[in-house]
Amino acid sequence: MKSRIVKIFMIVFATTAFLILVNAQGVQEWIVPAKFKTMKNPTSASKENLANAKDLYSKHCKSCHGSTGLGDGTKAASLDATCGDFSTAKFQVQTDGEVFFKISEGRGKMPSFKKTISDDNDRWMIIYYLRSFKSK
Ligand code: HEC
Repeated sequence: MKSRIVKIFMIVFATTAFLILVNAQGVQEWIVPAKFKTMKNPTSASKENLANAKDLYSKHCKSCHGSTGLGDGTKAASLDATCGDFSTAKFQVQTDGEVFFKISEGRGKMPSFKKTISDDNDRWMIIYYLRSFKSK
């Protein structure tokens, strides 16, 4: 009898500890290596590049991040993770290099796009489109 109570207690304890850990990971700061932070965007914000960026965003990002970057895409609700909000100052203060690192590497439910969008310049261009979501 006593050992059964101990067992139940241990299971509850382990489950709680696990959930706390998983949760903490969700809010953990995303560390970007220093060399990316200072990287300059090698592409320009030309009309043509912006149009390309918008196409790439619609194809690869919109389903989760939403058409205006708020993180409310059709897939977002079923993700069990928050996608962030591109309109916030907190997002926009990041350098292009930091954003490039995140798009390239991914984390958790955010896919890595190094292979899917294999041209580095395409991943750099998308950043201009993300900048257009900045709230006034
Ligand atoms: C399957 C859903 C999904 C898709 C598709 C997706 N993302 Fe994400 N994205 C996420 C999630 C979830 C996070 C939050 C990840 C985290 O913080 O661990 C995220 C985070 C990010 C971040 C970091 C946000 C911040 O606050 O710093 C950037 C930048 C980003 N995504 C860009 C993109 C771009 C660009 C594309 C398309 C090329 C894309 N994402 C496609 C789910 C997605």
